[in-house]
Amino acid sequence: MKKMTAMVHDIILQKKHYHHSVDFTMGNGNDTLLLAQISDRVDAFDIQKEAMQRTRQRLRAYDNVTYHLLSHAYASEVIRENIDLAVFNFGFLPGGKEELTTQLSSSAVAVHTACACLNYGGCLLLTLYPGHVQGKEEADYFDAWASGLPADQYHVMKLCMVNKENSPYILWIEKRKKASFADANK
Ligand SMILES: C[S@@+](CC[C@H](N)C(=O)[O-])C[C@H]1O[C@@H](n2cnc3c(N)ncnc32)[C@H](O)[C@@H]1O
Repeated sequence: MKKMTAMVHDIILQKKHYHHSVDFTMGNGNDTLLLAQISDRVDAFDIQKEAMQRTRQRLRAYDNVTYHLLSHAYASEVIRENIDLAVFNFGFLPGGKEELTTQLSSSAVAVHTACACLNYGGCLLLTLYPGHVQGKEEADYFDAWASGLPADQYHVMKLCMVNKENSPYILWIEKRKKASFADANK
């Protein structure tokens, strides 16, 4: 079976093209690279200079990415356009400093910003890691939040291993097209 990070890419590739994508946790740039390949423009965030430098170097052939060495909690101050795709891979950089893991206080602000800026038909992908303390806080919070999103406005899917406790999982949230809103309210 594929890793969750590869499954996220499979989900993203269900659409061939996006206008504006945002990678809220740049890390080693695996997600940013895919977004740059299939989007008109990309905003990418990380709080670690090394992550930004590594990603920038890796993506030097692409000129459609704006890099932000900034907490994603401040995304609303720099994002100028609605979003078609928002990717969050929470936790810490594999092989990096574990204390620089994402924290619920800033993650929640960033996800709410992304959701508020999402275009109709756009989607949010959250990869959560409940196997460590901060990851469990994020997982519990986002599970409850996503479960409460109105079903006539959002499709929400959870992809998880049901036989392995605390393994990483994906929350896939799609803002339904405006026409679907109208249909649901007929
Ligand atoms: C699991 S890694 C992301 C992996 C990445 N998506 C990739 O494809 O390689 C999580 C990243 O989130 C970053 N991070 C932690 N807190 C953050 C914050 N408040 N704002 C933005 N990035 C943050 C970490 O520095 C780390 O690079």
